[in-house]
Amino acid sequence: MTPILSPSLLSADFGRLAEELAALEAAGLSWVHWDIMDGQFVPNITFGPPVVAKLRARSRLFFDVHLMIEHPDRYITAFADAGADLLCVHAEACVHLERTIQAIHDAGMQAGLALNPATPLTVLDYILENLDLVLIMSVNPGFGGQHFLPLTLPKIAHTAARIRDTGKPIHLQVDGGVTVDNAAALVRLGATVLVSGSAFFGHPPYDQRLAAFRAAMGDTAN
Ligand code: DX5
Ligand code: ZN
Repeated sequence: MTPILSPSLLSADFGRLAEELAALEAAGLSWVHWDIMDGQFVPNITFGPPVVAKLRARSRLFFDVHLMIEHPDRYITAFADAGADLLCVHAEACVHLERTIQAIHDAGMQAGLALNPATPLTVLDYILENLDLVLIMSVNPGFGGQHFLPLTLPKIAHTAARIRDTGKPIHLQVDGGVTVDNAAALVRLGATVLVSGSAFFGHPPYDQRLAAFRAAMGDTAN
């Protein structure tokens, strides 16, 4: 798989989201990462389905939606209607995980499963083959601009091995503290989608920042 960069809107200018999305598209990005926070699962609050829906009408980017919320199953239809392409739920927030993943697929979206840094990979048992993406959190979720947690490096490698064993094209996404400096190592360990917030939006212009990430990721197009 060609590695993909998915910039996290958490570090974008919330007062100019439409312009930010247009700028990403113009710079050559294909994915954008939406961090949905409810003030319960994580301390922070961001945006919900109505904001995603309004911006869906103005963007052709692949909407990679990361739900950091309690009871994510209550909002699957709302995010499908809003135009999410991929919906990622946290293992720690799901009681009936197989049902939730099935419901995301039934709603016409790709399904992802996110794991906090200290959540063991055993949560992938019995569900991995049903997923389109596994998200390994490399910071504790809730805020942008945190430092990458090195304890997640072996976890990323182990997840890549488990995905390879399935023989299926399941993405391995890494989110939190990703920079141009650690991107190469993450791709070498098997990451196929890197999320970057502060290290991307904090360094305009976006086309040059994308080029720097692509060079680090050993990528020519994404
Ligand atoms: C953390 C979010 C991340 C975050 C990444 O709760 O899930 O997507 O915005 O931001 P940086 O790249 O600044 O760590
Ligand atoms: Zn995220």
